[in-house]
Amino acid sequence: MRSRLNVRILLSFLAIGVIFLCLSFAFARGIIDFWLAAVLVLFTAAGFGLVVSWSVNRTLGDVVETAQSLAHGVLDRKAGIYAGDQVGRLAESLNVMAERLRQSLDAVTAEKNRMQVILDSMADGVIATDRSGAVILVNPVVAEIFDIDEKSARGKSVLEVVRDYELDRLFREALASGQPVKKELRILTPEAKIFRVHFTPLKSPEGGVVALLRDITERRRLEMMRTEFVANASHELRTPLTSILGYVETLLDGAVDDPELARRFLGVINDEARRLTKLVDSLLDLARIEEKRTAFRRQPVDIRELVEKAVRVFEPQARAKGLALSVEMPDGLPVVEGEPDLLARVVVNLLDNAVKFTDRGSISVRGHAVENGVELEVEDTGPGIPAESLPRVFERFYRVDKARGRETGGTGIGLSIVKHIVEGHGGQVRVESQLGKGTRFIVFLPGGHPS
Ligand SMILES: Nc1ncnc2c1ncn2[C@@H]1O[C@H](COP(=O)(O)OP(=O)(O)O)[C@@H](O)[C@H]1O
Ligand SMILES: [Mg+2]
Repeated sequence: MRSRLNVRILLSFLAIGVIFLCLSFAFARGIIDFWLAAVLVLFTAAGFGLVVSWSVNRTLGDVVETAQSLAHGVLDRKAGIYAGDQVGRLAESLNVMAERLRQSLDAVTAEKNRMQVILDSMADGVIATDRSGAVILVNPVVAEIFDIDEKSARGKSVLEVVRDYELDRLFREALASGQPVKKELRILTPEAKIFRVHFTPLKSPEGGVVALLRDITERRRLEMMRTEFVANASHELRTPLTSILGYVETLLDGAVDDPELARRFLGVINDEARRLTKLVDSLLDLARIEEKRTAFRRQPVDIRELVEKAVRVFEPQARAKGLALSVEMPDGLPVVEGEPDLLARVVVNLLDNAVKFTDRGSISVRGHAVENGVELEVEDTGPGIPAESLPRVFERFYRVDKARGRETGGTGIGLSIVKHIVEGHGGQVRVESQLGKGTRFIVFLPGGHPS
């Protein structure tokens, strides 16, 4: 029933008029008496009135309710279109408006979600403030770094959120100048970290600043390590070179004419040149192992055989120094997966130190099975290592006694090679030592029994 409302009202009045006429006629003819006619007219009029008001209510009521829902933000309700008149058109416009609103809202929500996903997946920290300096947004990276809650940070000042005066000052500087600011900052988070921070004033009329924080602590640490390494390596290379140059100059200045002196100097030059070669070789080895670390060619290794072979190499040296050299490797040790040559280097380097630094007593190599692998111990009765040097002996170029180390031809690289190889195989190496009593190196290598 899609007739127009005003037509319906008109028809209703017409119907009432006709009925009224009929009743007047019946009354005039004496067919019904006055009261009956009056009551009938009253009821008919009331009936039609009800019908009209119901009809008006149905069309307009729905429109009104839909408009009210819209006002409350409910956009999926639709007004029924019962007539083709103005009320129907109103309902239709309302529906179109609701649909458009819903579409725009969907688009805005999708855009907002996209922005949120981007912010959430960023590796850098983001802090945005409004023009008054109050935080309007921090992303999860910032929340994690500074151990704060993303939501509760909103509305607070930068200083309250990050507790760093310099960062706060730079925010205000960018806000005041309207110019981007770039700076490297050391911030306590509470541990000290180094950030590269870009402050960019927002272009919107509302103003404000957004800061991008990139954690460069690790990069700076590696850079420092590299610089340190180059400095150390140059220093180590320079020492024998200076010595060689010195002796060569003395020879050229006339010492060459004294055969005995010349022979002694040439002997020193020879030693220094060898040391230099050894140093360069060790450095190359270290670089090669570092490079290979992720791609060791692994194969099952019989640790017992490997250790016994290495020990045999040192027997003549030990005997010459009057040292007792013993091996205790039980049968049936777990099998280690690794590169045999590199694992042999571990044992050789440890034995080399033990024999080199120990002047009397004994050196023993022991192996035993532990949970998930094998433990190897190389123990000596040498001079021991001072407690303060223990954490450093695995560093490159570190020697406890530089002068003595040089005398014995040490480069300070042997143990760092050991550490690299062992860790590259998923193991660990540690050292225990007592000054004047001796030293024990313990190597753990993961392994298992062949199934
Ligand atoms: N068994 C040991 N007894 C005493 N000191 C040791 C022993 N092994 C290593 N060290 C100390 O650790 C330092 C580093 O060892 P390493 O890296 O092998 O270098 P290098 O043998 O070339 O000196 C040595 O210079 C020495 O001071
Ligand atoms: Mg060594």
